[in-house]
Amino acid sequence: MVIAVDGPGGVGKSTVANRVAEAVGLPHLDTGSTYRAAGLVALRSGTPLDDGTAVLAAIESVDIQIVEGTVTIDGVDVTQALRTDEVTKASSAVAIHPDVRSRIVALQRSWVEDHGGSAVVEGRDIGTVVFPDAPVKIYLTARPEVRAARRSGDAEAGNKSTEQIAAELAARDHTDSSRKASPLRPADDADIIDTSDLSIDEVVRVVLELVEVTGDRRQATGSS
Ligand code: DC
Repeated sequence: MVIAVDGPGGVGKSTVANRVAEAVGLPHLDTGSTYRAAGLVALRSGTPLDDGTAVLAAIESVDIQIVEGTVTIDGVDVTQALRTDEVTKASSAVAIHPDVRSRIVALQRSWVEDHGGSAVVEGRDIGTVVFPDAPVKIYLTARPEVRAARRSGDAEAGNKSTEQIAAELAARDHTDSSRKASPLRPADDADIIDTSDLSIDEVVRVVLELVEVTGDRRQATGSS
């Protein structure tokens, strides 16, 4: 089964998704890294980020692979290169194009298929669009100042001020939630968890409880 973990940046999605995946013994797919790879391909090829057709052509001309958290483009490990500011902004910019999203979503779905059809999948539109039938849909939120403070603890934050991080998160939230194609929003049937005042352990516990309840319900109803 797919466990969808959606939400904006800085809510602790990756950490939670990783921990949940380990606990339930499923692979973990960070779909942000697929849009980051698309952004990096566009930047490296000098493709204008606002030209969806050109960005699609650029990503179709390379081979993007994700193997156990490592991302390669044409066989070259780009995992670290995906974490720069420039790529963060480019990933959000290229993610507005519907054709680019269709291509990237196909990659995500085939990754899950190749891993036996079950995974913890984190992103922005997993519960709404990529796996709308996922039996567990989690949407993580947190107050903006909490998200900025969390981000400032990440290595990639460098020596930016918390105010600057907050402004960048807000700008990306705006792009991600106002785009027409698969905007960032909770699925109607998602469980929304405000993580502002919870530790990672507490969030993981809540998610695992939801997974367990779903598993019991599916067993009781005989669904696979
Ligand atoms: O989760 P992240 O910060 O690595 O994501 C980078 C960008 O990719 C994000 O700003 C928007 C885009 N994205 C998306 O549009 N849909 C997803 N499922 C995941 C990420």
